[in-house]
Amino acid sequence: MVREWDPRTASSAEIASLLATLNAVLAADLPQDPPWRETSLREYLAEVMPGERRISWIAQAEPTDPGDPGAVLGQVHVLLLGDIGVLEVLVHPSVRRSGLGRDLVLRAARRVYQEGFQSIGVEVVGDTPAVAFYEALGFAREYVETRSVLDLTAVDWAELAEMATGIGAGYHLEFFPGGPPDDLIEAYARAKAEVRDVDDGELRPSSYDPERLRDSLDTLHRRGMKPYIVLARHEQSGEVAGLTEVVVPAQHPTRADQYDTIVAQDHRGYGIDRAIKARMLLELRSAEAELIEVQTWNAQANEAMLKVNAELGYRSDRDWCEYSVDVAELVHRLDPPR
Ligand SMILES: CC(C)(COP(=O)(O)OP(=O)(O)OC[C@H]1O[C@@H](n2cnc3c(N)ncnc32)[C@H](O)[C@@H]1OP(=O)(O)O)[C@@H](O)C(=O)NCCC(=O)NCCS
Repeated sequence: MVREWDPRTASSAEIASLLATLNAVLAADLPQDPPWRETSLREYLAEVMPGERRISWIAQAEPTDPGDPGAVLGQVHVLLLGDIGVLEVLVHPSVRRSGLGRDLVLRAARRVYQEGFQSIGVEVVGDTPAVAFYEALGFAREYVETRSVLDLTAVDWAELAEMATGIGAGYHLEFFPGGPPDDLIEAYARAKAEVRDVDDGELRPSSYDPERLRDSLDTLHRRGMKPYIVLARHEQSGEVAGLTEVVVPAQHPTRADQYDTIVAQDHRGYGIDRAIKARMLLELRSAEAELIEVQTWNAQANEAMLKVNAELGYRSDRDWCEYSVDVAELVHRLDPPR
């Protein structure tokens, strides 16, 4: 049975069952990734940026006895932002290839269509069944990035400490657990707006104005995701010359996510990219006792950033793709008018 589902009011048993399905999916498709925990999972699923909406459906097994709510075997949610819906679908490996994934996508697509949105986007992990699935449904590949993973147990910390200080004269680094302080938000947003040399995927939009940035940091915190920031300040002007952001999610605190890394145009060529990332890793080592890996996503064309990441010890893991489809076409394909 598929039904619309609200994580805010869902029972704890449903949240736990969804977590079990998510971890079964990870074990099948991404066995090197750490399993997720229940900590702040409800908030992760429920909280959104102001102005955005996330709508969810779950597929539940028939209850086996009266007290049993029925295992959550699949889930779809769509985040409505701007003029697109960003989709995520999960089907338990034990019930795949029976049409459930297609059914879940149709539910979400119909709603996105009714709400007047134009297109649906989805992140598709390379080398998993999702690639053939979305291609069979008519989604087209828009963009490919490479995910890389750094194993902190293999890092040469002395070398990293040297990298963190190998920055041109006239700059210094600052570390902010929890996000930039309020008096730096404007300068921080300016640096993000000026250059978008981003480390992350396009479906995770960055925030380029102060208000949006505050909202975005607040949303991260509400979702149980802790941001850490290292800034390079240009001493003469006080400008934010570079910044790097890492988020440690309560749901998988052994593996952190690298978000944006930006070096402003006028401040390139001074070793800022390498220094801010190295300093970040040194700080994380003491701030996050459980952390053992950091993952990052890069465009294959971004050679400068890939080179720095390789020097830090990142190893490329797999393709991470963005697919999209026109909603009207998708609904017609999956649910042709009779
Ligand atoms: C992608 C996914 C949702 C598909 O679910 P599903 O219920 O098996 O999909 P369906 O049965 O509706 O398949 C529809 C069509 O997609 C294609 N397809 C799906 N899985 C496929 C596979 N493994 N190989 C080839 N084609 C496939 C087929 O054309 C299939 O139609 P068919 O079975 O009639 O041939 C499921 O594999 C999944 O949950 N993957 C994880 C997704 C994810 O988010 N991963 C990120 C964290 S790991």
